[in-house]
Amino acid sequence: MGKRKILVTGAFGLVGTDLVSELRKKYSAKDIVVTAHNTIRDGFDVIVEHGDVTDENFLEKIIKKHQITDVYHLAGLLSVGSEKDPQLAWRINLGGLKTVLDLAVKYKVKVFWPSSIAAFGPTTPKENTPQHTVLEPTTMYGVNKVSGELLCQYYNLRYGLDVRSLRYPGLIAYKAPPGDGTTEYSVHIFYAALKDKKYTCFLDKNSRLPMMFIDDAIKGTLQLMAAPPEKITIRTSYNFAAINFTPEELVAEIKKNMPEFTCEYKPDHRQKIADSWPKSLDDSQAKKDWDWKPEYDLSKMTKVMLKEVSKKLRSGSK
Ligand code: SER
Repeated sequence: MGKRKILVTGAFGLVGTDLVSELRKKYSAKDIVVTAHNTIRDGFDVIVEHGDVTDENFLEKIIKKHQITDVYHLAGLLSVGSEKDPQLAWRINLGGLKTVLDLAVKYKVKVFWPSSIAAFGPTTPKENTPQHTVLEPTTMYGVNKVSGELLCQYYNLRYGLDVRSLRYPGLIAYKAPPGDGTTEYSVHIFYAALKDKKYTCFLDKNSRLPMMFIDDAIKGTLQLMAAPPEKITIRTSYNFAAINFTPEELVAEIKKNMPEFTCEYKPDHRQKIADSWPKSLDDSQAKKDWDWKPEYDLSKMTKVMLKEVSKKLRSGSK
């Protein structure tokens, strides 16, 4: 592998923020380029290019100018955001991906694109969901993810494009503020616990969902991208798992560290989205193909989140 030049879209989001700081340990600031929407201020010690990621000319200019070899295409709307504006979700989530894939073929770029547990739907087996199973999502976000997965596989088969993907579970992180998603109650809850000692959860206390601490997600993403191409047997998107828990179990874990914390449950429109997703995933293919192994359980994740969010709140950043 020659010299790598990395492009990250959606670099200021929940995944991007942590991914860029991890990439910075391996690559110099001039070998990482991030795109930022004009309204977002610069915040990284890397090259920042301002523009719209769905604009093909903008992306092509950047790929050429910086001689990009690898793209992490993270820009997208999450499940709740996509339900607010399905037309915009299609344009950004699917249109953006198609543009990236076309440019990647033209400039021989390697691509990472995140899929999600949202690719599954109410007819999918809920427990230990297999890699190859029914994919009939009922959200626009899920429709985007399944279509995107198939497009990735097609570009691999038809054009030999080296595109790799993971079905991210709900990700729990502290560096970036939580996005407009369904599993994000598991991030909001830490801010509320530390600020107000109480939280109103928008999901039912028994809603079990697959989850993962961000450090594991970033580690797995980089492991997948570093694996030799012949090891990659899935070109749609790999099932990717670590832990699963219900809001009630997370609350109990927080209480172990903070006995005064209380939570009430007021499920809203997001409950229906959560109900359509699996409770746990079978990720044995990722384990077999590129040695995937998570490190964080619920207790370790909770301790780190409480410590880091509290540090962040004390320092006054959002
Ligand atoms: N965290 C995401 C969401 O809830 C799942 O991909 O939208």
